Amino acid sequence: MYYPDNLVEEVRARNDIVDVISSYVRLQKKGSNHVGLCPFHNEKTASFSVSRSKQMYKCFGCGKSGNVITFVMEYENYTFQEALKLLAERAGVTLPEIKYTKEARERDNLKARILEAYKEAGKYYYFQLRSEAGKRAYEYFKDRGLSDDTMNKFGLGYAVTGRNLMYRYLKSKGYDDSVLKEMHIFYMNEREGMTDMFWNRAIFPIMDVNHRVIAFGGRVMGQGEPKYLNSPETMVFDKGRNLYGLNHARTSRKDNIIVCEGYMDVIALHQAGFDQAVGALGTALTSGHVNLLKRYTSNVLLCYDNDGAGTKANLRAIPILRGAGVSTKVINLSPYKDPDEFIKNLGSEELEIRLKNAENSFYYEIRILEGDYDLNDPDGRTRFTNEVARKLLKFEDAIERDNYLEAICTKYRINIESMRKLMGKLAAKGEGIPEYERPRSLVSSAKKDSDSGIRKAQKLLLTWLCEEPELYGQVDKYLNEDDFDEDIIKTVAGILFDQIKQGTANPAGIISMFTNEEEQSEVGSLFSTKLEKLNTKAEKEKAFKDILIKVKEHSFEMQAKLGDPADINRINLALENKKTLNELKGLRIVISE
Ligand code: GTP
Ligand code: MN
Repeated sequence: MYYPDNLVEEVRARNDIVDVISSYVRLQKKGSNHVGLCPFHNEKTASFSVSRSKQMYKCFGCGKSGNVITFVMEYENYTFQEALKLLAERAGVTLPEIKYTKEARERDNLKARILEAYKEAGKYYYFQLRSEAGKRAYEYFKDRGLSDDTMNKFGLGYAVTGRNLMYRYLKSKGYDDSVLKEMHIFYMNEREGMTDMFWNRAIFPIMDVNHRVIAFGGRVMGQGEPKYLNSPETMVFDKGRNLYGLNHARTSRKDNIIVCEGYMDVIALHQAGFDQAVGALGTALTSGHVNLLKRYTSNVLLCYDNDGAGTKANLRAIPILRGAGVSTKVINLSPYKDPDEFIKNLGSEELEIRLKNAENSFYYEIRILEGDYDLNDPDGRTRFTNEVARKLLKFEDAIERDNYLEAICTKYRINIESMRKLMGKLAAKGEGIPEYERPRSLVSSAKKDSDSGIRKAQKLLLTWLCEEPELYGQVDKYLNEDDFDEDIIKTVAGILFDQIKQGTANPAGIISMFTNEEEQSEVGSLFSTKLEKLNTKAEKEKAFKDILIKVKEHSFEMQAKLGDPADINRINLALENKKTLNELKGLRIVISE
């Protein structure tokens, strides 16, 4: 269900952004803005700025920006609706009851009950571990080097030996079979009825980013098969969209996230101070995982097991991460098998060094590839070189591709010019399709050239007009939304100009007209470009005019590309445009102090 726009706007308007953000971040007044340490990335000097007049925030370090609703979404990891609910409550606005269909309501109730039951089950296991019956499991964890604090932080537990203790416990708490069945932690047995999945196992609760228990892993203590028993996917647990430990890692102040394989690896890493570690739990990293990671970091360090399976996992994960624009490195754990063993043997300081020396993912890929060829044999060398050329062709960005080309050629003593020729030949044959299709959206195409001069000028113009809307009246005869590139910025310009015509610029309100998070962030950035500090009135007036002319020239260029070049009207139009530009150059802009 969508709340009507005017209601969204009311909730937004009644939550002053400075007040709301102040309850999360320490802000200090500086000029007309409030500044503080950015909660979305690790920094020592304050580059996070909140504007009361614009009702927006912007970080000049990591680039995040938006309004009060997007702030809550980002900070709490909430959906738009969840954030709106929180803010409505805060401001005492009553949201209409969501009108569900009967099925949707039942489904929602069932999900809520499953989550409650999981929480209850987690508490039961937790309690057992700390009881007399759990002594062996407690010793097991202790033997593996875990402190009480660590056990508590991860909510570790123990499933006692018994046919259906958990089942009966949850029944006694009032959960129906219809709920218990959907938890998928019981087996249905014709003779015995429902029996527990976990008997005499050390228990690792799996939580979502909001610390809600959504599944369990159970390990045999000592030898036995299977080593780990994991509860399957349910209505509340989607393996491809959850990472073990992310509920803690998301609030880490580190500028990267470490991805490893196992429960024990995540836990050992956290205990050793690497509180940015998460685990994929034996499943391959999916694009769902990567999208989740991207919310919190743009640097991933892969720390899979140091064996064949780990190498495979690295090679599968790298293209997905690369495709999503996440910078990726691989940690070398040699001679140990996994991070847990590494820390036990060499300690956290040594691991810290390995983190610093983590290998760039492309070099890693090539190094592994090298193992498949005999580089001393001319034929092997040729085939290896061909393979490298193919991989290089997968870089979309020409500069990046060239940098890698040079580095790799130097490293493997390949002649750079021959490599370029080879790549040209392969490209002509149609090679060079990206390994992973970037999701195409308005936003990514807009972001790509975000630094291009013209894009910058368009953004500057919008930011400026939004800060000094009275200027619009002096230029409205020359400026409309069609002067902006064909994407989100054009839509936004149109809305902003309409608002100004009606009396006020309301950028924060424009942001929440977009429901997609990436778009919200992009829109936020359009209004938050850093305007240069200009001292005199004359400087400002000149700067504004220059920006306007730049935008307009680009607009005319775009126009000129349309239509038939031989068309007489087009020639007239070109002359007309030239006249307009001249007029603009002579225009006198007046900026009041
Ligand atoms: P230990 O240190 O031996 O406790 O395990 P680990 O955490 O280092 O995990 P390991 O590298 O052996 O395996 C990585 C992950 O794969 C585990 O954390 C589990 O999520 C999963 N896994 C391991 N063994 C099994 C198994 O027998 N069955 C299933 N379903 N998953 C397993
Ligand atoms: Mn291990």
